[in-house]
Amino acid sequence: MPLLSLPCQRLTLAILAPDQAGLESEFYQRNLRHLAPWSPIRTTEYFSTEQIRRRLEIQASAFEAGLAMHFALLTQDGQQMIGACNFSGVIRGAFQACYLGYHINEAHQGQGLMREALEAGIAYMFDTQNLHRIMANYIPGNERSARLLEKLGFEREGYAKAYLNIAGRWQDHVLTALINPAFEAPDQRWSRRLA
Ligand SMILES: CC(C)(COP(=O)(O)OP(=O)(O)OC[C@H]1O[C@@H](n2cnc3c(N)ncnc32)[C@H](O)[C@@H]1OP(=O)(O)O)[C@@H](O)C(=O)NCCC(=O)NCCS
Repeated sequence: MPLLSLPCQRLTLAILAPDQAGLESEFYQRNLRHLAPWSPIRTTEYFSTEQIRRRLEIQASAFEAGLAMHFALLTQDGQQMIGACNFSGVIRGAFQACYLGYHINEAHQGQGLMREALEAGIAYMFDTQNLHRIMANYIPGNERSARLLEKLGFEREGYAKAYLNIAGRWQDHVLTALINPAFEAPDQRWSRRLA
């Protein structure tokens, strides 16, 4: 059973339990070639069920501590993982922000499924986790990613040189962010609930 499930129109967003590692391993093994240009270089072992199970344990603790929400995109029957969207590096205090990363099965691109997943994930991060800012960054040539972020309302904030080591080299990234227009500081939330 996932630790959290958010049903959407055509898929379900789920924070997987460690014993669901097989679903995630199968997704990454199937998409190695598709994701390689947009990912850090990994060993083959990195995507084994055993290593994923250990990472899911760490991610479960991070979720419980409110530090990161790693969502799998599951088919509605919950039998297949078709993508992932990760809201990580949550910083509270005066920042109330996190980073977003995402990828989908090659065969599931071009259907608006990632947009559907991100709309649900962003709503959860803004409304339930009460974040003020989500940051998402992409390599300038990643046009699909650029279009997706633009449709979701992310705005360009800058350009970082040699920002991340992707596919074996330090690559520049376009920096974008989405601000929560309905953000309420935690103390405002409490006083509204008590009123
Ligand atoms: C980036 C990535 C997630 C984008 O996926 P995507 O399928 O293009 O994104 P969406 O789910 O929003 O689908 C949008 C497309 O579906 C089309 N579409 C079809 N039916 C649709 C529907 N019912 N609703 C919305 N859009 C629909 C849109 O017109 C759009 O097509 P276009 O790209 O030709 O303009 C995907 O390409 C990917 O995983 N890439 C590899 C990893 C990667 O780059 N990650 C990001 C690193 S920054």
